[in-house]
Amino acid sequence: MKLLLTGGAGYIGSHTYRLLKAQGHTVKVYDNLSNGHAEAVETDDLIVGSIQHTGTLKTLLETYKPDVVIHFAAFIEVGVSVKKPFEFFANNTEGTLALTKAMLDCGVNKLIFSSTAAVYGYPETTPIRETAKKSPVNPYGTSKLMVEELLESLSQWAGLKYTAIRYFNAAGASEDASIGEAHNPETHLIPLILKTATGERKSISIFGTDFPTPDGTAIRDYIHVDDLARAHMLAADYLADGGKSDVFNCGYSEGYSVREVIEAAKKVTGKDFPVEETERRDGDPAILIADSSKIKQTLGWQPVHNDLEYIIKTAYKWEQNRKY
Ligand code: UFG
Repeated sequence: MKLLLTGGAGYIGSHTYRLLKAQGHTVKVYDNLSNGHAEAVETDDLIVGSIQHTGTLKTLLETYKPDVVIHFAAFIEVGVSVKKPFEFFANNTEGTLALTKAMLDCGVNKLIFSSTAAVYGYPETTPIRETAKKSPVNPYGTSKLMVEELLESLSQWAGLKYTAIRYFNAAGASEDASIGEAHNPETHLIPLILKTATGERKSISIFGTDFPTPDGTAIRDYIHVDDLARAHMLAADYLADGGKSDVFNCGYSEGYSVREVIEAAKKVTGKDFPVEETERRDGDPAILIADSSKIKQTLGWQPVHNDLEYIIKTAYKWEQNRKY
């Protein structure tokens, strides 16, 4: 298959790129490198450009004619989205509108979209099924939900075939630690804990100890990035085989609290490090755990690395040997 990955030089994109290449697919990455890293992909496969530059994008789509586009390119920081909502709607929502328009104009009609558990806001049930109420509590989640609705409408009226994958908490790094998570600034729990273990940071803060959970800290469904990458590969096969447009949660259906993650990191790294307890961060739900039955049944996805210690071990190896 021929695939085009927007944002393919970013964290989840680069792991998906590696997997697809290893499976023998032809893959091109379209990334403006605002958050992606050129080092994460082969130079010959990288085209530097923005999803809003429809001229460049159309030329690429017309000449390369990918079977499937996987659209990772987006802003992801919830905290920034609250301060700069227009940037999120412009990049995430308008950007995807521009991409789908360019695709359909060029006769490319299969898209896999990076969505998020943030579309559920503060969920009323756990584990969360795809049919649960969508009620985002920040512009990031809204920008992604708007795209989901846009894609559904385009699938009905414009011939688009899509799958949207709602990620839970992506974490970990490739087994050989050659690629991994590198956000700037980093806000995610596991890399921040590990930067504390390596001494790069002085302490890790627990954001809130009064959640209605057994130990009072928030619970998340951490999924190894290579398992998430495989979900994209299966989604591409599914669309190529004529699968119907659909939305899937992707997580392990198991949750760990912030304290549990910190304890696991202390065990894996063999390091003790200072832990502080602070106020809740705005907009953090108590518990986010996926019901992933649908992606298992429909795409045949199965977790391989559903082991918190493996996730932390690979992320730690990456932190200690970071190439970018
Ligand atoms: N946390 C801390 N201390 C920190 C960082 C995080 O206690 O220094 C806590 C958070 O409050 C949260 C948990 O650790 O309870 C996980 O936080 P992350 O920032 O790693 O991840 P989030 O669950 O907030 O966000 C992730 C993705 C978002 C997505 C969201 C919804 O990064 O893009 O899941 O599923 F929107």
